[in-house]
Amino acid sequence: MTAAPGQGDAGPVRGHGGDGGEAASGFPTRKAVVTGASRGLGSTLAGFLAGAGYDLVVTARGRAALEAAAATLPGEGDVRTLAGDVTDPAHRKALAEAVGDSLDLLVLNASALGPSPLPRLVEVDVDALRQVLEVNVVAQLALTQALLPALTRGRGLVVAVTSDAAVEPYEGWGGYGSSKAALEQVFAVLAAERPDLRVHRVDPGDMRTRMHQEAFPGEDISDRPLPEEVAVPAILDLLARRPPSG
Ligand SMILES: NC(=O)c1ccc[n+]([C@@H]2O[C@H](COP(=O)([O-])OP(=O)(O)OC[C@H]3O[C@@H](n4cnc5c(N)ncnc54)[C@H](OP(=O)(O)O)[C@@H]3O)[C@@H](O)[C@H]2O)c1
Repeated sequence: MTAAPGQGDAGPVRGHGGDGGEAASGFPTRKAVVTGASRGLGSTLAGFLAGAGYDLVVTARGRAALEAAAATLPGEGDVRTLAGDVTDPAHRKALAEAVGDSLDLLVLNASALGPSPLPRLVEVDVDALRQVLEVNVVAQLALTQALLPALTRGRGLVVAVTSDAAVEPYEGWGGYGSSKAALEQVFAVLAAERPDLRVHRVDPGDMRTRMHQEAFPGEDISDRPLPEEVAVPAILDLLARRPPSG
């Protein structure tokens, strides 16, 4: 096992090693970054990508959960785990260094819901709102900026994970929803500015995850689909078809 180059927070590396080179088969490898890959949609998607032969750089704040999730990934590709917060510039730099020269797929999945239970806007703690915007908007763009050279070389696909709360005025969802609305506009403009990339905003729909449970504390959410039932196939379909940005 080796550490990602020059990074103190890097976790184990599994697989054939090297940087963006070739798998043992001799075929070029494809590389993806998945944020928020310690649970929920991120970890499930990472599993499908690893099974499809992608090399992965995965991140989340909680190191133990991230490494436990990475340890279950199938396939023979490299899996680099970098624990850290996407709002931390040093962490974003570490992710860019771990990626190396070329990147095929960036999944901007890590996200903050804000306080639970969800407060009405008149009661919102503005510092908590600022943090939600920092995670869900500013850090998403900043990470994309950090990875742009590699995405440009890889003619990469960027998937920004959004929510119907970006467009629906659900009571209590004003903070999170406005952050996702801003996220959508940021990545719509990026798509217009960078037609050489494929930039997509994907609403995964309701999913049975920790975030969803925190949004509906105490409620039975067992009727919501798991990420692998709807959201993951939708993202894999984008990857397979590579339609124009949208
Ligand atoms: N679940 C739903 O019903 C639903 C519906 C619509 C949209 N979405 C969107 O789908 C995406 C995935 O949601 P999910 O339900 O799978 O959420 P989840 O189960 O809560 O997982 C969130 C992941 O993001 C990581 N994360 C959170 N804040 C982070 C930060 N600042 N830096 C780095 N990593 C961070 C978490 O790990 P750590 O806490 O250890 O950092 C975790 O790995 C999100 O963008 C969410 O907004 C979800």
